[in-house]
Amino acid sequence: MKVGVLSGGGDAPGINAVIRAVVRKGIQKYHYDILGIKDGWRGLLENEFVSLDLKAASGILPRGGSILGTSRTNPFKDKKSPQIALKNAKKAGIGAFVVIGGDDTLSVGHQFSKLGLKCVGVPKTIDNDLVGTDYTFGFMTAVAIATEALDRLHTTAETHHRVMILEVMGRYTGWIALMAGLAGGADAILVPERPFDVKAICASIKRRQERGRNFSIIVVAEGARPKGGKEVVYSETVDEFGHIRLGGIGYYLGKEIERRLKMETRVVVLGHLQRGGSPTPFDRVLATRLGIAAIDLVHEKKFDHMVGIRGSKIIAVPLEKVIGKRKSVDPELYDIASVFFG
Ligand code: F6P
Repeated sequence: MKVGVLSGGGDAPGINAVIRAVVRKGIQKYHYDILGIKDGWRGLLENEFVSLDLKAASGILPRGGSILGTSRTNPFKDKKSPQIALKNAKKAGIGAFVVIGGDDTLSVGHQFSKLGLKCVGVPKTIDNDLVGTDYTFGFMTAVAIATEALDRLHTTAETHHRVMILEVMGRYTGWIALMAGLAGGADAILVPERPFDVKAICASIKRRQERGRNFSIIVVAEGARPKGGKEVVYSETVDEFGHIRLGGIGYYLGKEIERRLKMETRVVVLGHLQRGGSPTPFDRVLATRLGIAAIDLVHEKKFDHMVGIRGSKIIAVPLEKVIGKRKSVDPELYDIASVFFG
């Protein structure tokens, strides 16, 4: 059988580790032919394929990005494209797909499954906001990078007696902000799930000053917004799945704090540094386990499912239970982090 593999949406460290696992077990154990599809669903619409043999998947375990490329192409954005994709898959002789992606890419996989294209999903997003899995690969790498940034900001913030704001990714959920904030000892963590009150943040900075701590570290997720306000957008243009580009909440907050407290404030937007480069050992292992589980599901003909991790066990979840939902930050974890605020 020929198995197609694709990665869609924003990249995440560990995609190549998934591809390597699918190729190694798919060829060595199941004697499949593995076909890479370039740039997510775009490659299927435009017949851009690349054969993935053992050599092609060699040496890619620690490499960031995706050897297949990625895109935010939505094949269901018009009426004709789904049929083109189905026809191309048939013509290329692809019997099953391993679809590496977040909610958008997996939703497409689910829609295609209903049309007879056999898909198995692998959860990928640094945001860690997919339900059906405790962790998505790439997330822990992003947390490690954000934590290092917080450690570095701490020393300069303390030396200059400043407020330092670190803006991290997290469009709908604040997992990166929360985990990195906990690990990096942030004095405030602002997440999309809990609209914030600038007055309360300023009060806690003041409380710290009264305790002799005349610097503060704030980590804010890009999707966080003030109570009664809106997210800050970088650009009004939306992608093919309707997502707007966020960015700038850190600057909004920095200006507000300076205005209200007359305290010098600096803002760092971590941006795509969180997504680039080599995965951590945790993500390499997780991505490898998920890739192996995905090709096993293909072999078991258990389609329209996503692989995931629950506790320490790899599981399979029906895609319909995953898509269109969002895993919000754990309130217990947030409560723990808030013990250290102010
Ligand atoms: O990977 C998810 C994500 O990190 C979101 O948090 C963020 O809004 C988005 O990607 C930005 O991606 P891009 O710059 O590729 O559009």
